[in-house]
Amino acid sequence: MSRSKILTGLSLLAGVAVIASGAAIAQDAIAKRKELMKTVGGATKTGSQMVKGEIPFDAAKAKASMDAIASGWGDFAKQFPKGTETGSETTAAPKIWETFQDFDTQGKKMAGDAAKASVAADQGLEPFKAAFGEVTKSCKSCHDDYRVKKK
Ligand code: HEC
Repeated sequence: MSRSKILTGLSLLAGVAVIASGAAIAQDAIAKRKELMKTVGGATKTGSQMVKGEIPFDAAKAKASMDAIASGWGDFAKQFPKGTETGSETTAAPKIWETFQDFDTQGKKMAGDAAKASVAADQGLEPFKAAFGEVTKSCKSCHDDYRVKKK
């Protein structure tokens, strides 16, 4: 094999490695945002079980759950780089990349609602119920707009 052929082969390999690492980064972002949403889902479940009386109301636990939702948004919003629109069974809708500003605004609203619910948790179950209702409305509103339904 000539020297130039070997060099071409090497640079092709390097190219493949770059593409492969790009794909790995995309998968990481999708995995990370799913993981963050799972945490949000778990925290919401705790709140919802307390509101429904399935588990006893515990102000500290309710507060910790709402704090987890409130603090997660900043990191979540960073997990949508170009190239992560599809793949890894993402349910993120293409619209996120078209109107990201609105998407982010809805996420910040959810974080704000969760912060209010965290304060309400200190005041007892009834105030918490009302505030928690706003949090779940925020989830639904964003999912309606920015998540594709799984078939
Ligand atoms: C501003 C938008 C937005 C808000 C607000 C939001 N979500 Fe999501 N959620 C998403 C997107 C986008 C996905 C899809 C992520 C993916 O598959 O790449 C998702 C996915 C999920 C998932 C599935 C995670 C998985 O395993 O794939 C759960 C559970 C979830 N959200 C729960 C919630 C709950 C509960 C709330 C409210 C407390 C909430 N979300 C608020 C945008 C949002």
